[in-house]
Amino acid sequence: AATDLEQIVSLCKRRGFVYQSAEIYGGFRSTYDYGPLGSLLLRNVKEAWIRSMVQQRDDVVLIDAAILSPPQVWQASGHLANFSDPLVDCTNCKNRFRLDKLDDPDTCPSCGEKNSFTEAREFNLMFKTQAGPVEGTGADAYLRPETAQGMFTNFAQVLQTSRKKPPFGIAQVGKSFRNEITPQNWIFRTREFEQMEMEFFVPPEDSDKWYEYWCNERLNWYIEHGIPAEMVMLRPHDDDELSHYSTGTSDVEFEFPWGFDELEGIAKRTDFDLKAHAAVSGERLDYFDPQTNERYVPYVIEPAAGATRTMAAFLLAAYDEDEINGETRTVLRLHPRLSPYKVAVLPLSKKDTLTPLAHEVRKLLADRYMVDYDETQNIGKRYRRQDEIGTPLAVTVDFDSLDDNAVTIRDRDTTEQVRVPIDELLTTVSERLGF
Ligand code: GAP
Repeated sequence: AATDLEQIVSLCKRRGFVYQSAEIYGGFRSTYDYGPLGSLLLRNVKEAWIRSMVQQRDDVVLIDAAILSPPQVWQASGHLANFSDPLVDCTNCKNRFRLDKLDDPDTCPSCGEKNSFTEAREFNLMFKTQAGPVEGTGADAYLRPETAQGMFTNFAQVLQTSRKKPPFGIAQVGKSFRNEITPQNWIFRTREFEQMEMEFFVPPEDSDKWYEYWCNERLNWYIEHGIPAEMVMLRPHDDDELSHYSTGTSDVEFEFPWGFDELEGIAKRTDFDLKAHAAVSGERLDYFDPQTNERYVPYVIEPAAGATRTMAAFLLAAYDEDEINGETRTVLRLHPRLSPYKVAVLPLSKKDTLTPLAHEVRKLLADRYMVDYDETQNIGKRYRRQDEIGTPLAVTVDFDSLDDNAVTIRDRDTTEQVRVPIDELLTTVSERLGF
């Protein structure tokens, strides 16, 4: 694993995973663009989550709700009233701090001045904008600070159209926005980020049971996707840490270079949200159980993860340096499902005699997998380039291939090479990748 965040930040910049946003204008603080490799990795993280949380289950459906939403949604959710941080300014050095994060609330951590803080003001973290063409006359709108509310506002429609009944879940992956006061640690905390959230609706009496279940499922998901078990843990929240809607939360924490920190929260949201939206909208948001003839408001267990933050964790955990033939190499030991490219096709030479066959092999594989094609530099350097971006398999097309119709597959982790007939290439690649 990486011991220093900088190892990953510089690799990501050098190889096209993550760039500072608007860098040609000096960079826009705390916003990042995902390049050719980062956009694939991020997509794979989200797809791996959807595969586990939706595809492989029969009790969770997926939605994609709007990012812009009217004030009523955030009035009902409690975000207008509660989603704020207490801010203080130092009257001496003019720096600004979150009051709840100060080690000593009487001493400025920047200039050391005593009793120099202004009164605390509450700063709401939501981005507010206007819907409509004329400034000042449009309706207020907010960029969502979490994807979760889309699941609550669509609860009744999803219940009806999907024919699900509790226990069942509604999942969503997408962008969220928070005007964070202290964005930090690269893509760990940014103002624009992506979440992967699921609201699991259950009979109230089963809430504790499902909470335990989802805590374990979610912890294991990270381990199954390549994070060493000793680098992740569940940490139950203390009572004074709980969000305004939660009666119990556990975080999945990952060992970042700066210590264990949050990847995901699994929260017991009770019937807080459905009841609040029912009260504000006047709509009925409950479930009628035809078996018991009872009507009730389901309780909710919510596993809420950050896709961009999780991508950082996967990169940090996958980073490795080892030695091959006396040379140090950097290798990303990413789970094959997450790797941006699954296979690299590398013709041994750029000569016209090899190129047509190499392209045939590329096409054969690209039908099913994301494939990189690289014919520049010597083959050793090309292997290293693929190792550094986490490509699990490299396929070399050489001059013998023209005679024996076979290619060499090289494994990223062991560097072992085997000769495989082109006829069997897809099957062999699929067996080795596991999909
Ligand atoms: N619906 C519940 C909710 O949003 P949260 O703990 O505030 O809970 C869930 O957010 C996850 O979203 C976090 O565990 C984190 O992974 C991610 N997240 C939250 N704020 C973030 C930010 N500013 N930048 C990157 N990821 C963030």
